[in-house]
Amino acid sequence: MTRKEFTPILRNINGEILFKTKQTITCETIKHIVRDRNFNSKEISISESSIGNDTILAINRGIYQTIFSQDNASKQIIKILNQTVLSAALLSELNSIKKLMPSTYDHILVVAALSIKICLDMNDHSFDPSRIARIGLVHDLGKSRLPVSILEKDSPLSDEEFKVIQEHPMIEYLLISHYLNNPKSFIALAGFSHHERLDGSGYPRGIKQLDNYIQTIIPCDIFDALTSHRPYRNEPFTVRAALDLLLAESRKGRVNKKFVKCLISYVRKDKPHYKQVRISEENRDAPPRINHYGIRKK
Ligand SMILES: [Fe+2]
Ligand SMILES: [Fe+2]
Repeated sequence: MTRKEFTPILRNINGEILFKTKQTITCETIKHIVRDRNFNSKEISISESSIGNDTILAINRGIYQTIFSQDNASKQIIKILNQTVLSAALLSELNSIKKLMPSTYDHILVVAALSIKICLDMNDHSFDPSRIARIGLVHDLGKSRLPVSILEKDSPLSDEEFKVIQEHPMIEYLLISHYLNNPKSFIALAGFSHHERLDGSGYPRGIKQLDNYIQTIIPCDIFDALTSHRPYRNEPFTVRAALDLLLAESRKGRVNKKFVKCLISYVRKDKPHYKQVRISEENRDAPPRINHYGIRKK
């Protein structure tokens, strides 16, 4: 598969047509792509891929060096990743993203690593770090099917372009359901929900009921997106400004404050337990001067 400008059809990793983008998506059409294609859903250990080494490289850079240097965090995270399995097709998708969209690939690995760290730090036996690893690794897979011209646009998006960006969770859902021959798998549903918010203000469905795994992925996803270079702003958010924004989101009831506190605890010098994190209401840093994110073209 090569990365191309927008095409009005959705293809799987082998280039087979699954769906026309403008086609109405119904339960019947989803059943059709799941049932009739019967993709090989064989699972492969991540230890057999380059993901472990690539994650070490991704989290040994910039702000993440401090976060993951704590208590052998990176070793524990790589151990969890290497104990995790993913379908062969999903690993091929990740390989393709690595080649064609290296910054999205790094973002995926960092979000997976941060989410695994939070999951481990919760010390809750019902919270499975391998499960969150799988969710982190497939979140944003749908971006590989979006047009480069929209993803890399450095000026405000039109309403139409923003609608295209908002299609990536649905694309993920369709692809994962197809590869796993299962429209109800937790990773397909998680891919579908990673842009939802607790108050229902997210997309694509505007749902409020989000499980612990998705609630963990959300602030990690936002944190890395804000603190990374993006074409639509002049510079990344500082760590402090990114945490200010996440705290504001948690005050509005959109993001779970507990997981934001985990991120705050990771960047504090004394590394307090997240329950001991005290927060002032004041903003500690300003956002970047030029930031077109969320601004619509008139
Ligand atoms: Fe996303
Ligand atoms: Fe993301």
